[in-house]
Amino acid sequence: MRQNVQNLTLCYLLQMQCVCNALLDTPYFWPTQKWVAEDSDYAIYLAKRNIRKKGMLEPYEQVHYNHLHEWLNHKWDFIVMQATEQYKAGKERKKPDRVVLDCQERAYWIVNRPPVNNICIPLVSQNIFYQQAIMRSKVKSSVSLGALVKYVTTYKNHDPFLAPCLPSNPWQTDNDTYWNLNMRRVEVPTKSRVERWSFSFFELLSDLRGRDDFKIFLKREFSGENLAFWEAAEELKLGTASSMSTKAESIFKTFLAPGAPRWINIDGRTMGLTVKGLDHPHRYVLEAAQTHVFLLMKKDTFFRYLKSPVYKEIQKKAITPEPHNFR
Ligand SMILES: *[C@@H]1O[C@H](CO)[C@@H](O)[C@H](O)[C@H]1NC(C)=O
Repeated sequence: MRQNVQNLTLCYLLQMQCVCNALLDTPYFWPTQKWVAEDSDYAIYLAKRNIRKKGMLEPYEQVHYNHLHEWLNHKWDFIVMQATEQYKAGKERKKPDRVVLDCQERAYWIVNRPPVNNICIPLVSQNIFYQQAIMRSKVKSSVSLGALVKYVTTYKNHDPFLAPCLPSNPWQTDNDTYWNLNMRRVEVPTKSRVERWSFSFFELLSDLRGRDDFKIFLKREFSGENLAFWEAAEELKLGTASSMSTKAESIFKTFLAPGAPRWINIDGRTMGLTVKGLDHPHRYVLEAAQTHVFLLMKKDTFFRYLKSPVYKEIQKKAITPEPHNFR
């Protein structure tokens, strides 16, 4: 009797599964399915793999398999039956299809039930590499790798996890002097911070202390308009929606309109775009003009700043904290 009930339940479950499979049509492991990975699916997958590999699972898979066997013991018969069915169905497919589907399924489970132990670090760095590769789809991989190497060489001494960090690493120790020395607008910055400003114009502007120093240089040159405009456009992006049109209007009057008090010079095309956009102002309406100005400063002013007495002075003034001795 009990056996019968169990068989009936099993049949029911199998039927459900068939209905589901028929409904799905597309394999569950395709990203478009957004299938939520569950232990029973994983168990079926591992059982199937176990059949295919004749009991030779990868060590981490074996660990998962044993664990699931114990955990899902009450429906293990069902799981093995499902696995066998799927295995048979798989064999009926054409070989190239089967290989592709197997790879996809395996990838799905590597993502959703990742192998533990020492696999994470290569994955992270690979990930960075692939992200870069995606962004420049038409660049040779050697060029892409070269850029990666250059980036790492430039920044490695500025990563507190790769190089020692003075006076002591606040992420690893309990002394937070580092934070205080590197506050946003400290009077005297550290040498390593000043060095970082020279890496790129973007670095210089992202650091408020660096931006302040750049402003000192611009003031001596009587050419603060470009940066002032860039900052105003930046502020526009972050304001409330209701303030958009008044803000955009006032920025236009200050920097772009003919005869504006702090007039900046942008090319005709960008100007046209901006003026047209201002009919219906939104937070990114000045973006084209802002980019234009950014590139202008990057190409010219930034390099003059790096060679200027202002930058030399701050380099001289900057401090190198003594390493802290923990006793
Ligand atoms: C943290 O380190 C600094 C610099 O070495 C030192 O002067 C300070 O006394 C330390 N603070 C604590 C709470 O240990």
